[in-house]
Amino acid sequence: MSIRTLDDLLAEGVSGRRVLVRADLNVPLDKQSGDITDDGRIRAVLPTLSALTGAGAKVVVCSHLGRPKGAPDPQFSLRPVAGRLGELLGAPVHFATDTVGESARSTVDALADGEVALLENLRFNPGETSKDDAERGAFADQLAAFGDAYVDDAFGAVHRKHASVHDVPARLPHVAGRLVLREVEVLSRLTGEPERPYVVVLGGSKVSDKLAVIEALLPSVDRLLIGGGMCFTFLKAQGHEVGSSLLEEEMVETCRNLLERSEGKIMLPVDVVAADAFAPDAAHDTVPADGIPSKRVGLDIGPETVAGFAAALKGARTIFWNGPMGVFEMPAFAHGTRGIAETIAKTDAFTVVGGGDSAAAVRALGLDESSFGHISTGGGASLEYLEGKTLPGIAALEN
Ligand code: 3PG
Ligand code: MG
Repeated sequence: MSIRTLDDLLAEGVSGRRVLVRADLNVPLDKQSGDITDDGRIRAVLPTLSALTGAGAKVVVCSHLGRPKGAPDPQFSLRPVAGRLGELLGAPVHFATDTVGESARSTVDALADGEVALLENLRFNPGETSKDDAERGAFADQLAAFGDAYVDDAFGAVHRKHASVHDVPARLPHVAGRLVLREVEVLSRLTGEPERPYVVVLGGSKVSDKLAVIEALLPSVDRLLIGGGMCFTFLKAQGHEVGSSLLEEEMVETCRNLLERSEGKIMLPVDVVAADAFAPDAAHDTVPADGIPSKRVGLDIGPETVAGFAAALKGARTIFWNGPMGVFEMPAFAHGTRGIAETIAKTDAFTVVGGGDSAAAVRALGLDESSFGHISTGGGASLEYLEGKTLPGIAALEN
């Protein structure tokens, strides 16, 4: 891979130069208070930013947050992120209230060596996500004007063909930041020749989101454990009734076909926690996976399933986990996710946690992050990497 790195850029010298850094500061916010509920993605970009400020660069950081529709939308402002970033860096972050307008220009112009600016949410500008090359290009021109060099450290967004990810690097000397490099290094261990047994745990709500990765992984894994909302479509494919659990009716046939082709590699829950309603205080019981009552909704995998999955994970040498096993945000339905996460943390395997939700689950459940080999900052990005897809952001960095 012919990608230049941050170290190459630092070796050239960045003192007094403006360096535009694309980060993925798309952190979860509390719906009521707007507070940042998990700052993992902000922390993950600190090594790159500190290296640049320490070397005297004028650092211009840009990112998206959420999915605003190409116009300013206060609920998606990066302002709180600028505050948190400043706390973590131990230095103020100058916040521009627009992306490439007057505020951005004057903020960038006023930067002293070693200082950091953050531009407002890139997706407030329709050029960022436009499918039209010229429209994206015009926005990329304006962004590129803020830097003498470009660093991509937004691993979570490398699968997006967006202006700041795909078009800016074509306009500036470009390198991969520390986070992007580490992510690619780790994930390439999974696509190369992983040490066996290689066990993958998938959860999350939709089979349709995970279908491509299941197809891509099936030939190379030894075991594929499926929990989370998506397990119900598989259980239905096995001929079980799933009550009012999440179900993708149009995917049942696909799941049946996957099960047939999986040579017994796919393991499904044998029991689930079924509740009266999708609510934290709903009445609930553990029931066999083939006996979910018709009016009940499955919100977690049951203890027997946790034990079975744990047994499959114990001898593994390589583990990839993406997606929670249940509605872990509600304590009553967090046992499955916790059980699996604790089991993975205790193995001697090389362990990779992929995906915003599973990474957030690790932290929300108070588990020790250092007991995992790697916690990816990419959800869709890590899955598409494992699918073997060309990622526009990575391709753009290759010379
Ligand atoms: C993510 O959260 O997966 C990344 O930040 C990318 O966000 P997106 O799915 O809205 O492009
Ligand atoms: Mg996403």
